Amino acid sequence: MKQYKAAIVGYGGMGRWHKTGICKTERVSITGVYDINPERMKQAQEDGITKAYSSYEDLIGDKEIDIVIVATPNNFHLELACRAMEAGKLVVCEKPVTMTSDELQELMDCAAKTGSKFTIHQNRRADPDYLEMRDAVEKGLLGDVFEIESRVTGSRGIPEGWRQYAVAGGGMMLDWGVHLIDQMVMMMSPKKVTDVYCELYHVNYKECDDGFKMIMHFEQGPSVTIEVGTSHFLSAPRWLVFGNRGALTIPTWDCNGRIVRAKEHEVTWEEEIIYTKAGPTKTMAPRAKDTIEEIELDGDLWKPDFDIFYRNLADFLDGTAELRVKPEEAMRVMKIMEAAFESDRTRSVIKCEI
Ligand SMILES: NC(=O)c1ccc[n+]([C@@H]2O[C@H](COP(=O)([O-])OP(=O)(O)OC[C@H]3O[C@@H](n4cnc5c(N)ncnc54)[C@H](O)[C@@H]3O)[C@@H](O)[C@H]2O)c1
Repeated sequence: MKQYKAAIVGYGGMGRWHKTGICKTERVSITGVYDINPERMKQAQEDGITKAYSSYEDLIGDKEIDIVIVATPNNFHLELACRAMEAGKLVVCEKPVTMTSDELQELMDCAAKTGSKFTIHQNRRADPDYLEMRDAVEKGLLGDVFEIESRVTGSRGIPEGWRQYAVAGGGMMLDWGVHLIDQMVMMMSPKKVTDVYCELYHVNYKECDDGFKMIMHFEQGPSVTIEVGTSHFLSAPRWLVFGNRGALTIPTWDCNGRIVRAKEHEVTWEEEIIYTKAGPTKTMAPRAKDTIEEIELDGDLWKPDFDIFYRNLADFLDGTAELRVKPEEAMRVMKIMEAAFESDRTRSVIKCEI
């Protein structure tokens, strides 16, 4: 089988992660790098990358390179990706593919003009927690799902550097929102998003959002809540999903969640008033134990398969597969993020068909 060669532009956190952390397949080898920072070039050599280019022209001009991975801050993606496509390379752009939908359209036009292709590193489509949740929903274990809540929350603020600046495409919507919205769009496809409401958080940062909370609806449901926080000293569960026959929680990325669901043949029970510290309740009292069953989710069943992304690039170049992440999918995500920004700006629900 042919092995394809890739070069990375931008050897920071993610560029290095492509080389040392995630690309393990024999189908794609990462052999070259270009970064404007000499320290990063030195790091690449220490990591065993053989080709250190003196300029980006050299990188895209290298006939041996089949794939260019763009892993710079977001504001450089469009230009670098276009130039690589003009040089005939298959381009992998880090997420978010561009800063706006207009830029993404430019990139798509460039692909059409040059006949080259690009894809986007939406690696969180392969996240075990997401696949575990999706599998349970698709098997119908919760009945008809009416609410999905997807959250990533921490308290470490926005990382130092370009992520804190709007001009570079900073902020948590573009950083994390792009992953979490993509997961939902892929799960619900071909259903469209009909409305979006969003509040951006600016808890400690004025220029860029340091988190956000949004609610969007897909046609015929469900309602999806997505929240990202960098000032949350207590973390909410990664996933909470509610259906008419059960609910699922996956508290952390360890994937050890559980499902609580009604028994197949529902048992009726006496409704009694429960007396709590906060007073009596009937409606909100826990259900009788013999009317429900609990399923522990086995986090070990779901192993991360980061290589799937690179194997797909090789299969695509062989001519045996379509690209796993398509520009039209990224366009939907970009437009949903833009609707979220508009909702925050106007403090209103944005009606849409995305
Ligand atoms: N898919 C994911 O899970 C994931 C995770 C983290 C980051 N990312 C994405 O990866 C990209 C890079 O993020 P990062 O965290 O690695 O940032 P980083 O700051 O750690 O690294 C960026 C690197 O790009 C270099 N650079 C900047 N401008 C350049 C240019 N014009 N030409 C060549 N090199 C240039 C910098 O010197 C730096 O080494 C961003 O688009 C980010 O959103 C994706």
